Formats: sequence, C-alpha cells, structure tokens
Amino acid sequence: MPAPPHAPISLLRYPGGKSKPAARRWVLAHQPRVVGEYREPFVGGGGVFFALPPGVPAWVNDIDPDLVAVYLALRDRPAEFAARCRVVDPARLKEEFDRVKLDGGEDRAFRYFLVNRTVFGGRVNYDLPSRLYFSNPDGWNVVKGDTLGRAAAHLAGVRVTCGDFAPLLAEPGRDVWCYADPPYLVNSSLPPTCRLYRHAFTGADHARLAAAVRASPHKVALSYGDDPDGFARSLYPAAEGFRVAAADLNYGGTVGGGKARGRELLILNYNPGKVSVLLPGPAPRPDPPAPVRWADRRERRALVRQLRAADRTLSLRKIATRLGVTLSTVQSDLAAG
Ligand SMILES: C[S@@+](CC[C@H](N)C(=O)[O-])C[C@H]1O[C@@H](n2cnc3c(N)ncnc32)[C@H](O)[C@@H]1O
Repeated sequence: MPAPPHAPISLLRYPGGKSKPAARRWVLAHQPRVVGEYREPFVGGGGVFFALPPGVPAWVNDIDPDLVAVYLALRDRPAEFAARCRVVDPARLKEEFDRVKLDGGEDRAFRYFLVNRTVFGGRVNYDLPSRLYFSNPDGWNVVKGDTLGRAAAHLAGVRVTCGDFAPLLAEPGRDVWCYADPPYLVNSSLPPTCRLYRHAFTGADHARLAAAVRASPHKVALSYGDDPDGFARSLYPAAEGFRVAAADLNYGGTVGGGKARGRELLILNYNPGKVSVLLPGPAPRPDPPAPVRWADRRERRALVRQLRAADRTLSLRKIATRLGVTLSTVQSDLAAG
C-alpha cells in the first residue's frame, strides 16, 4: 500500500540518525514559528529533512561525497537510479554486495545505497572492507515500494552540496532555519574501525561549529548527546542566550556493541515560540514519479533481454516490476528482438 503523501520517508539507514518518529517529532517541535528556508549542514540520512512537509525551500549538505551522491542521483536522475537499483536480482543480492563494496568504478550512488541498506548497522566505510558485513538483505526491499519515488519528489528543487558545514550557517537568506546534527563527540574517541561514520569531528571542530553558530544570522538548532563532562553545554552557555532542551531518546546506531540510548540535547539560539508555520516555497513540487520513464528505449530493451537471458525462470511480470515499467512494455521489448 503506498504511504500517505506527507508521511516521513525512510531512505537510508544512518547511525545516530534522526529517523525514529520520537527523534523527528522532538526536533520538529522546536522549529521556529516561521520557516522560509530549511538548511541541514550535516544531513546524513536526512531523518528530519525527509520528515518535512513538501514545498519548503531547502539546502542540505554533508561532507561525505558517497552519501551526497545518493541525494544527487535521486534529485537529478531518479528514473535511471531507481531502475539501476531494481535490476539487482534479489537472489544474488549478497554476490552484488560483495562485488560493489570493492568496486570503486561502480556508480557511486548505487554503490553507497546498496551497501548502506544491507550492511551491518548501516555503516558504510569503504576504507575498511573487512568491516562491511552483509547482514540485512531485507533492507533492499526498499527498492520495491514507492520510497525512491517519494524521496526523489522530496528532493526536487532542493540545493544539495558536499562540503563543510560553514557556508550553510553563514550564507544570507530569509527566515532560514538551520538544523545541525554534528557527529557525536564519542565518534572521534572511538578507534577508526568502530566509528559510526567516516568523517569524525574533533573537539576543535565542535568549537569551530560553535563559533559559526554565534556568527550566524539564522535561527539554529543543534543536536548533541548530553555528555557527562558537559562539553556540549559548555560550548553554548545560557549566559549568551542559548536555550537547552533535553529529552531521553533512543536513536539509530550502536556504540560499543550496544544500542545507543541516552539523553539528547537540543540547543537553540532562538525562542521556538508555540505555533509553527512552514511557509510553502514558490514552486509546488511535482507528484512522485510513479512508473519509471526510460529516456533511452534501447537501453531498456537491452536490460529486458539481459534479465531474460540471465534467468529464464524470471517471469515477465517480475522483470516489469524490477524495471518499473508495465508488463506490455516488457512484452513489446522482447517482441522487438
Ligand atoms: C550525526 S550524523 C547526521 C545524522 C542525520 N541527522 C540523520 O538523521 O541521519 C553527522 C554527519 O555529519 C557529517 N560530517 C562530518 N564532518 C562534517 C563537516 N565538517 N561538514 C559537514 N558534514 C560533516 C558526517 O558525514 C555525518 O553524515
């Protein structure tokens, strides 16, 4: 059954991500009263971004180019990307995982997405291939439903960048709300083999972020774990006008083998007020692209033939589902020889 139009989208598995309903609600409940533009400098799996109602102008960023490739693929070539994902034979998923995790020449977005959806803990770090365990085949079911189409529609018109967080806090804009979820403090102190994501953040990076928040003309909300040393709180003192809200949340990811849980802080440089209004942007977003439209008919025919030749027991209906086309399209492709 297709998801209701504004239901949050769960695209990626992300350690420390904010895709759990309670985490999403907690952050969104603290948005400013008026939001003309949403910015997320450490987007990761986009737990909060993908829970926003459609139509809010947005800018998302992350320093990990492989992760950002997935956002760009879904924004700029959604049909091709979805088709590439659906061509994977579910019976050969592990084989495909073992191949792509070592293949630096593979489509960057496809490689990241497949590994992220099926690897242990959603952790993608190609520098440590021995830690990339295929453990979640069900994660690939995501390509069967409407998630890719909905994510693509959500990303239409969104500015997507790969780089450091600083420009998103500094660049001028109107009624901008920045939601920043930097790498957890604990990530930097873990040995490289245990880190939740590739790009760690040092204490100095946290201090640099705090300086950028102070200098920002925008409303900024930051997520932090409430560390026992009070480091996060010390960076944003109440005496300077920062507000700190706390909640006990469980979030995605594991630390030291156990499920991560703990007290979360939301640090604000503004008063969230009581009523939240998300202003729609100027251009309405298109409806999610339902069936895949193939720009290149020859490529589609070749894929149909390839699938048919690879596995004669595969029904034409299954081939149609995998390529996101109708049964009659597959029949006419085969008839065309
Ligand atoms: C805690 S995760 C964000 C999780 C995200 N909120 C979610 O819901 O999935 C932190 C992210 O910051 C990124 N990152 C690390 N250093 C960065 C930097 N200097 N600038 C921008 N992004 C960075 C990491 O690649 C990681 O994706």
